[in-house]
Amino acid sequence: MSDPITIADFEALAEAKVPPETWCYFAGGAGDEVTLRANVAAFRRWRFRPRMLTNVAEVSTATEVLGIPLALPVLAAPTALQRLLDPEGELATARACAAAGTLMCVSTLTGYRHSEIAAAAPGAPRWQQIYVLADRARTEAALDEAADCGYSAVVLTVDTPYWLWRERDTRVGFRAPDDLPLPYVGNPYAPIAADLSWRDVDWLASRSRRPVIVKGVLTREDTLLAVEHGAAGVIVSNHGGRQLDGVAATLDVLPEVAEAVAGRVPVLVDGGVRRGVDVLKALALGAQAVLVGRPLLYGLAADGEAGVARVLEILREEVWRGLVLLGCRRPDEVTRAHVEPTVPYDSPA
Ligand code: FNR
Ligand code: LAC
Repeated sequence: MSDPITIADFEALAEAKVPPETWCYFAGGAGDEVTLRANVAAFRRWRFRPRMLTNVAEVSTATEVLGIPLALPVLAAPTALQRLLDPEGELATARACAAAGTLMCVSTLTGYRHSEIAAAAPGAPRWQQIYVLADRARTEAALDEAADCGYSAVVLTVDTPYWLWRERDTRVGFRAPDDLPLPYVGNPYAPIAADLSWRDVDWLASRSRRPVIVKGVLTREDTLLAVEHGAAGVIVSNHGGRQLDGVAATLDVLPEVAEAVAGRVPVLVDGGVRRGVDVLKALALGAQAVLVGRPLLYGLAADGEAGVARVLEILREEVWRGLVLLGCRRPDEVTRAHVEPTVPYDSPA
């Protein structure tokens, strides 16, 4: 293949390079993968209403989330086991995110310690994704370490009370290798605390002394609970179609969540973003920014740090081009009036 110029090109390169028994874990989803496909398809059900002659001589993709300046409205979603794709794993991702001017959310299942990641890209903004383990002392130690390393917020993933391995993985016999370092879980089968409740959001905020962002809300009811329990932000996410198959595409839920939040905290969304125009549609429907998971993993697998950097650059260029043609100078100028559903639209509301 000639040089990759789209996320789809990177996906093809990555798939050709990664052994099939590893690829299934990264690319796959839960059950029949209905939700995995729905996430991507949802973006096609919206079309733009661009505005002309708005003076787009000076367009910037820059934005901010919780006071953190970002060069583009795209953050790195937390994704596990990155050392399976590249020996540098999370270090490579951290360096590429820092160079691109964006924030990395580091998974509980990182292959490198928070101190190592912080040293690889000093000064860059980072959040810590948390699975509260049944062994809470282990989680508390991880919280303290990340706080010391300057991680400015905790992202509590609420859609994963248990690790449930997926059928693609079972079929090819995927198993995280025993010698893969996972400093914060010990082994990838360490149990999560399945007894978590909304009260633990308050506990986490006071124990971590950092803002808590709740990742994985899919209803207005849970959005209201998250805000009530002090969440500093919410991420509309179905874990990239990897947990409960048959839930809505995240783009379809985004308006419901944004309406429930009513501007009190930032709303982020992830799942299925593969193009700059997807980012713009998410902004139009109420997101402050998006996160991407697999696109960065494809970059990492294809070409390590340079691949992640190129994927972020492609997204930044595509967002810039989209803003210009939509008639917006900045991400926060994209409004609900810039999109409309294609018909027929199967509205969840
Ligand atoms: C994930 N995701 C995830 N989420 C999380 O909170 N902690 C984690 O450790 C992981 N691990 C993980 C591994 C892999 C291989 C994937 C693909 C995803 C979910 C991730 O943060 C995000 O919600 C989705 O990846 C978003 O969907 P896209 O961008 O991959 O379509
Ligand atoms: C996954 C877990 C690790 O999606 O979050 O595989």
